[in-house]
Amino acid sequence: MEIWRFGGLGCRFLRSLTLGRNDNIPLFYYLCMTKNLPFNLIPMDFTTLIQNRYSCRAFSPKPVEQEKVDRILEAGRIAPTAVNKQPVHVWAVSDPGALEAIKGVTRSNYGAPLILVVGCRPADAWVRRYDGKNGAEVDASIVATYLMLAAENEGLATLWVGSFDPALLAGILPGTDGYELVAMINVGYAAEGSAPSEKHWSRVEMGEFVTEMK
Ligand SMILES: Cc1cc2nc3c(=O)[nH]c(=O)nc-3n(C[C@H](O)[C@H](O)[C@H](O)COP(=O)(O)O)c2cc1C
Repeated sequence: MEIWRFGGLGCRFLRSLTLGRNDNIPLFYYLCMTKNLPFNLIPMDFTTLIQNRYSCRAFSPKPVEQEKVDRILEAGRIAPTAVNKQPVHVWAVSDPGALEAIKGVTRSNYGAPLILVVGCRPADAWVRRYDGKNGAEVDASIVATYLMLAAENEGLATLWVGSFDPALLAGILPGTDGYELVAMINVGYAAEGSAPSEKHWSRVEMGEFVTEMK
């Protein structure tokens, strides 16, 4: 985590901003996020990370630093896949021309400076013997989720986009033969004033979500 590069004092100072109370940390992150403060300077525990993640639909044009891109891609690379078949490929797009072209393949483009396109090659994937189900798309979804959460862990905002024209997108990217394009993970710094949509706050109740058989 980044804070350790700043040493113990810096950590203690940033921690003190949460008034030493763990239950203030989500509020602290929220304030940092909405005010564009460097909230990635203090370690974020996993629970806080997944609670703070939301679909960002307003990105700042500020580029994502290459070292952050590298760490995000590494997270995707080590994600698990069925029988370790690794039938997944990622196109990390930050080239301005390609980003401009990608605007034409989806209505869900909000100006992210980095788009991670996740594709899978069904021919390389594990197939379930009982019903012939191909695991490629599940593997790609796991990789995409790792990428999304790793980006959040870098203090970045994300949007998973599934609504795009796959044929048009394949025409923009090199080497897509045999690949099914599954997701575009939009990554960048949240624009000033970016906030979760109403849907973010709406989830089914636990009783509807889960059937516990104890
Ligand atoms: C598989 C998948 C596809 C999605 N596709 C889109 C999309 O094309 N455009 C968009 O604006 N949001 C898209 N989203 C974001 C969802 O709308 C969003 O996750 C959901 O409304 C819950 O909101 P939250 O992410 O802020 O919690 C997608 C999310 C997932 C998981």
